[in-house]
Amino acid sequence: MTSRLFSPFEVRGQTYANRIAISPMAQYNGDDGAVTPWHDQHLGGFAVSGPGVVMIESTSVEREGWGSATCLALHTDRQEAALRELLTRIRTYSATPFGIQFGHSGRKGSGRLPTAGRGPLPLDEGGWRTWGPSPVSFGGEWPVPEALDDAGLARVREAYRQAAGRVNRVDLGLVELHGAHGYLLHTFLSPVSNHREDRYGGSLAARTAFVAEIIADVRRTLTDDRALGIRLNAHDYVDGGLTFEDTIAITGLLREAGADYVCVSAGAISAEARIEASPGYLVPYASKLRAATGIATFVTGLILTPEQGEEIIADGHADMVALARGVLDDPRWSWHAAERLGVEADYPMPYLMAKPGRWPGAALLRPADEAA
Ligand SMILES: Cc1cc2nc3c(=O)[nH]c(=O)nc-3n(C[C@H](O)[C@H](O)[C@H](O)COP(=O)(O)O)c2cc1C
Repeated sequence: MTSRLFSPFEVRGQTYANRIAISPMAQYNGDDGAVTPWHDQHLGGFAVSGPGVVMIESTSVEREGWGSATCLALHTDRQEAALRELLTRIRTYSATPFGIQFGHSGRKGSGRLPTAGRGPLPLDEGGWRTWGPSPVSFGGEWPVPEALDDAGLARVREAYRQAAGRVNRVDLGLVELHGAHGYLLHTFLSPVSNHREDRYGGSLAARTAFVAEIIADVRRTLTDDRALGIRLNAHDYVDGGLTFEDTIAITGLLREAGADYVCVSAGAISAEARIEASPGYLVPYASKLRAATGIATFVTGLILTPEQGEEIIADGHADMVALARGVLDDPRWSWHAAERLGVEADYPMPYLMAKPGRWPGAALLRPADEAA
């Protein structure tokens, strides 16, 4: 059988050996925004385990966009240098391509660490100002963000541009803007959080305009061969929020602005959002969005088995599958998927002794008939 999950994928000047993306995963291990030894093992481990591309977690483009005090960020020379050194180390042992997600937490910024119970971190406990399109809280205990005025909008645009320049310098091949999960760019897109009456609010096109400008800026800044995508919610999961039809229309506008792909995801735009996840629950959205717009499409959300991944790609529902918890559970997911689908995976030399066919343990641990 010829596997489609293990067929190459091209986006702009980037080629991935297969359709498996390690989804961006916040690690809460930044040191003043810079990567640390934790990221060596987290990202380096995936880099030697056979995915098509490894995404670096949501990385803030400005200080007030941090989600929490241990967020990654890319707005200082020190953060850039630490990232360059990390990538240089990984590139000594792996040719796996990397991408990075640009984040700005907007009104969900200044959060407590997961170990301190999540929720907002107030200013008097070391928190920071948060920003949004409008002074509307996420809900619950979350504070009202400051509305970005013209100077603030220009500042945020410049922050994205600067971060894109740093991506050129550290030589990452792909940037994904975080436009989902209730963070800053999503709050501009959604009528739940964007109540502006200027050119960035009101109609769908106006709500999309700020994000489109950022896409155009980042596109102009990145060298031509680097790909640019955006993560979008399939819809908002709240009454009065973005519908899936809105997401299709937004995708069209962002594609015109310069987006090469969309990653279809789901996350809370407000405290009322209720998202019910089941295996592959975002695949039907990705499939329709891909068919309706023709844009390259990544899909995430409870993609668990190799057969599921294979079917998503082979049936044309998406171009890439982005896995998170499944690869935390089994970092060698890509190898095991290759084994199940009868594809020869590339093992790094020191690990060859564990390769199926060379090691009898593989067949004993993962018998073919149980896998079927
Ligand atoms: C530990 C962890 C951290 C995450 N951090 C991010 C992030 O930085 N950016 C993002 O867009 N999604 C983030 N996500 C969401 C994942 O990328 C993924 O889309 C989601 O978990 C659904 O995929 P899964 O069912 O394979 O876990 C995170 C998920 C996990 C488990």
